Amino acid sequence: MDDRTVLITGAAHGLGACMARHAAGAGYRVGVMDLDAEGCAALADGLQNAVPLAADVCDPESVEKALDSLGSVPDVLINNAGILRTGPLLDHPVEHFRTVIEVNLNAVFIVAQAVARRMRGNGGGCIVNMSSINGIHPAMSCGAYPAAKAGVIALTQQMSLEWGEFNIRVNAIAPGFIDSGMSAPFYQNAEVRQQRQGAVPLGRLGSADDVAECAMFLASDAASYINGQTIAVDGGVINSVLMQLPRE
Ligand SMILES: NC(=O)c1ccc[n+]([C@@H]2O[C@H](COP(=O)([O-])OP(=O)(O)OC[C@H]3O[C@@H](n4cnc5c(N)ncnc54)[C@H](O)[C@@H]3O)[C@@H](O)[C@H]2O)c1
Repeated sequence: MDDRTVLITGAAHGLGACMARHAAGAGYRVGVMDLDAEGCAALADGLQNAVPLAADVCDPESVEKALDSLGSVPDVLINNAGILRTGPLLDHPVEHFRTVIEVNLNAVFIVAQAVARRMRGNGGGCIVNMSSINGIHPAMSCGAYPAAKAGVIALTQQMSLEWGEFNIRVNAIAPGFIDSGMSAPFYQNAEVRQQRQGAVPLGRLGSADDVAECAMFLASDAASYINGQTIAVDGGVINSVLMQLPRE
């Protein structure tokens, strides 16, 4: 039994909920943080040792209050909360652009800073930030999402530089085509599904479990010398551009 605490943001649904289940299964005490208070409570209720934390990751006061009520300093933070607003840039409302940067990038800083201050006084810890392959290769009509996720990669590197001396490791995950959470409705379309699967060298979409396994690895002592990295969990799709073109 692990006596360590993991805090997961955006944990009421999708990838966050899956990571919460994996963490609880590995014996962690799990802080389930989300804007959706009911979703938090429902998920925490079904886990072995979990605390629901209704909070807005964009609001530093709300985050501080939730951290105080957690009752232990997180050993691991998984900065996972995120949103997507699609549409071509020429028609994109500025408000959508701002909101996506606020939740997907600014809040990663807000939560990580609050948690890292506590980790520093506790001998260290580990942070996993959720980026996306869109932060490495932008896609059409994704609004501010690729810029925010590229920012997460740079912020991860900077955090790893500044916080290594406090024994805080910081890494990021860049999921690819994942058949879960915010992308699940997209893959209901059989044609889209087939096209996307065909572009992945491994020939399948990823699952929430694929992403959760990577997060658990980065959080573990097995990854104790991995710092400042972004790991793509994408079946190899970011390397497949030339695969889309005919050879002969
Ligand atoms: N699903 C994918 O295909 C995919 C691919 C690449 C990256 N990601 C990233 O993985 C992360 C999880 O995505 P998901 O697919 O599980 O999405 P999701 O929509 O299923 O879950 C996101 C969660 O974040 C919460 N949330 C949103 N704003 C919040 C706020 N201000 N404060 C607290 N919680 C908030 C939501 O309530 C929700 O529970 C995101 O950062 C997303 O960008 C997902």
